[in-house]
Amino acid sequence: MCLAQVLGQIPRYPNPDVLVAFETSDDAGVYRLEDGRALVQTVDFFTPVVDDPRAYGAIAAANSLSDVYAMGGRPITAMSIACFPEKGVDLDVLTQIMRGGVDKLQEAGVALLGGHTVADKEIKFGYAVTGLINPARIVTNAGARPGDVLILTKPLGIGIVTSGIKFQKTSPEAAARAIEIMSALNRTAAEAMLAHQTNAATDVTGNGLLGHAFEIAQASGVTIRFQGERIPYMPEAYPLAEARVMPGAIGKVWKMIEQHTSVGPAITEPLKSILLDPQTSGGLLISVSARDASSLASDLISRGAMAAEIGVVEERQAYALVVE
Ligand code: CO
Ligand code: CO
Repeated sequence: MCLAQVLGQIPRYPNPDVLVAFETSDDAGVYRLEDGRALVQTVDFFTPVVDDPRAYGAIAAANSLSDVYAMGGRPITAMSIACFPEKGVDLDVLTQIMRGGVDKLQEAGVALLGGHTVADKEIKFGYAVTGLINPARIVTNAGARPGDVLILTKPLGIGIVTSGIKFQKTSPEAAARAIEIMSALNRTAAEAMLAHQTNAATDVTGNGLLGHAFEIAQASGVTIRFQGERIPYMPEAYPLAEARVMPGAIGKVWKMIEQHTSVGPAITEPLKSILLDPQTSGGLLISVSARDASSLASDLISRGAMAAEIGVVEERQAYALVVE
């Protein structure tokens, strides 16, 4: 049984104040409050992706906040979730992880309210995050419209490069760049997206660019067409993918979307792996009306984010995704 099947067996209890829940593969859940605003809530934690405990904490925080940003929300509070071995690892490591995390929360203007730690063989760390959102301006997977332009706000290849770190096949410069990309908040990208005619968005995380684009295509009933040569990635990811130093999850993502995806001859095998690569704390994939695409792109760049126009949304065709 796979995870989606487990979730399918959880009973649904309809509640008029639940505006977004777990049925739609959206980034976070949304609950309407009495004063016209809504709460947006999410939780994420994972095993270390880098050796530096402080950087790991910062990445875990940026990643947990990202699901709130991806829906157009503003995170306000967080609770930490930590799994830590009872012996064998110095407790100072946990202190460093938590310091890295709280500094990132501080940068985002998010208050840490508390947390919970359990003994576990393997270190895991992350946050449950609560934010506020305007119920009239929730950016979900479902709103992409034919004619929209797709903009990506961080380069791909993070999962492949962090695999390279694990196998000591990555240069220190590439490892530092990966940490920089993963620690960057999606806050500025979210603010820019809300200032324009954005119809749908998601953050690019465990399902890679194509897996998350597939969720948008399915939820919106459209086809997404990517121009492979326009998709930015960390240059070190390509030779690593060529040498097959990469996360095993790439194959799982491909299995999930294979039947629904047409990949053209211009897409080499390493590039295809990069498009499927699971990202930790990846960027936003924004579906914006064509009229607003260039103003959103320049707004993103002026706020210090990346803005790559990588594809378009079309009426639904035989394939949900076309990569050419
Ligand atoms: Co997400
Ligand atoms: Co998530």
